[in-house]
Amino acid sequence: MNKTLWGTDGKGNDICTYEIAGKGGMKVKVMDFGATVLEIHVPDKNGNDVDVALGYEKLEDYFTNDPYFGCCVVPSANRIGGAKFTLNGKEYSLDVNDGENNLHSGFDSICHKMWQVTDEKDDSITFVYDKKDMELKFPGNVHMEVTYSVSDDNELRIDYVANSDEDTIFNPTNHSYFNLGGHDSGNAMDQLVWINSKKFTETDPHSIPNGKLVEVAGTPMDFTTEKALAQDIEADFNQLNWAGGYDHNYALEGQEGEVRLAAYMRDVNTGIKMEVLTDLPGMQLYAGNYIPDGELIGKSGKAYVRRAGVAFESQYFPNAINIPEFSQPVLKAGVEKKTTTIYRFSAN
Ligand code: BGC
Repeated sequence: MNKTLWGTDGKGNDICTYEIAGKGGMKVKVMDFGATVLEIHVPDKNGNDVDVALGYEKLEDYFTNDPYFGCCVVPSANRIGGAKFTLNGKEYSLDVNDGENNLHSGFDSICHKMWQVTDEKDDSITFVYDKKDMELKFPGNVHMEVTYSVSDDNELRIDYVANSDEDTIFNPTNHSYFNLGGHDSGNAMDQLVWINSKKFTETDPHSIPNGKLVEVAGTPMDFTTEKALAQDIEADFNQLNWAGGYDHNYALEGQEGEVRLAAYMRDVNTGIKMEVLTDLPGMQLYAGNYIPDGELIGKSGKAYVRRAGVAFESQYFPNAINIPEFSQPVLKAGVEKKTTTIYRFSAN
């Protein structure tokens, strides 16, 4: 465990970074501010170290972090339509921070809060955050834990645990953006993607699922056979036109509750492949369409281009809380909830 002071949050708290590593050459750097993933180093096909996660050079940029680089998004990832939901007969109004909707929980994001470290080892770290009742306008005092661990065979495993004193929403995701050619290697659209999904959640023009699951077959949304992201991302297809490219939730095959393969991405130049595994029902494929071209200064001091990285966000379906047919992202009072997502790396 390599702990380093990075700066302060301006409210009297020191912000530290922590490096965890496995014996297979993988190293991951995280920080306590937002329980954010900063760097993911993996060996390429020649054994060279490549940092495959997008991130900022300067700590101050994480105080806004509009793209949510590396964030641990809690309690509610993705969008809730109309920024409203009803639970146990009570209506809750959330922050309206994305058109008329709620995105990633709201304005005063827990991505910008200090998490406490409760366990540190060479290959893992646990952060804890205690959300207050109605903080971010979500009910319940919610105890949340996230553990990042690196295995000797180059997996980054993310375990979430949550407990609440009231029924509430718990739909966590990690918002890392990946570029398997290296975080600063330009746009990631030549990389090949496969997704274990035959259906996606159709959205309205503002990326809110309308409750319909649509077959990917015969559409540009189809990743059941691997293809470069670039191949169809500019296709003239409403769903893509509205979101500016891939920014959609895929209904994963296999059993919710069991950790199974959700997707992979691979880069032919570095030979790096990343497999995504999760026990959650869905995964948002977000191609970094809204990363402003040439404006955000990344870790090597160079500006990132549009679509410089791709997020694979495991989650309950967006807006599920308003669509009873979808699996519900509800954390019941007094019932502990656990969920796991793994990013597994190899190279050849
Ligand atoms: C959303 C995008 C959004 C991005 C940054 C993703 O999870 O799907 O639409 O732009 O987060 O907020």
